[in-house]
Amino acid sequence: MTVRVPGKLNLHLGVGDVRGDGYHDLCTVFQAVALTDDVTVSVAEEPGVEVVGEGSAAVPAGASNLAWRAVQTLATHVGRDPDDPKVRVAIRKGIPVAGGMAGGSADAAATLVALASLWRLEMGRDELATIAAKLGSDVPFLLHGGNALGTGRGEQIVPVLSRHTYHWVLAFDRRGLSTPDVYTELDRLRAEGDPPRVGSVEPLLEALATGDPRQLALLLGNDLQAAAVSLRPGLRRTLRAGVSAGALAGIVSGSGPTCAFLCGDAQSAVEVAAELSGAGVCRTVRVAQGPVPGARTVGGEETR
Ligand code: C5P
Repeated sequence: MTVRVPGKLNLHLGVGDVRGDGYHDLCTVFQAVALTDDVTVSVAEEPGVEVVGEGSAAVPAGASNLAWRAVQTLATHVGRDPDDPKVRVAIRKGIPVAGGMAGGSADAAATLVALASLWRLEMGRDELATIAAKLGSDVPFLLHGGNALGTGRGEQIVPVLSRHTYHWVLAFDRRGLSTPDVYTELDRLRAEGDPPRVGSVEPLLEALATGDPRQLALLLGNDLQAAAVSLRPGLRRTLRAGVSAGALAGIVSGSGPTCAFLCGDAQSAVEVAAELSGAGVCRTVRVAQGPVPGARTVGGEETR
């Protein structure tokens, strides 16, 4: 059973103060983009996780892999033995590892959908979303895909309709960034001074509804960007290079270090990608459009 799952960008990421449980209150607009991982779950006597593809060497293959935690959590939920679930998970990565595009959360979301199908569980997406939220803040969105408004720690999502397809260029950095480190850096910057915060989310939601990438470009904003740039100052150069190459705007994706550049159309995205590749500011450049659906079985039956 193979499930394809996209990565995400945050078009707007407003980070509130740190909560009692260590998480931060968020107000975010997610968009799922067509940079995907394929997750195959099969019945096996020898349980485990294997990972190939983009940055796979950096992905933990053992019990600390989020996809494996998804297996154990779903097994427990349906009364199977979480320590001997008799399944193997094979992940083909296209989403950058530790890149701020929720690659690990995507694999967890895909694993839930694949296992629900493999085990023929009579589970709706809402029940899966509740389990997803336990695994990570971004997992419910990656089940869903499209565009969505996320609140709470990001796990409470409401779909946002948009008629338009947007064209992005993504610049992967040479090394990843740890999400907790970036949040901690933001807390430090805020304790020291008063870094600017993104404004209300409303104008961006209105721009999404119009479908005009030029309007959307003016409203992209990410409170984690200052923290990611503080930890990885070279990102400033990457962001400048994308805009000089002709993108409408550039932004750090989530906690970074991937940078996302919004382009006017598909042709412009190809041109920006080519120029950015030659600029020597990042490891790899990809073109991806969004929004796209969340975790879906490939060439098989859909779970309800
Ligand atoms: O939920 P998830 O496990 O993906 O989050 C990873 C880390 O990112 C958390 O342990 C926390 O340090 C940070 N985080 C946060 N506030 C959020 C989401 C994540 O501080 N809303």
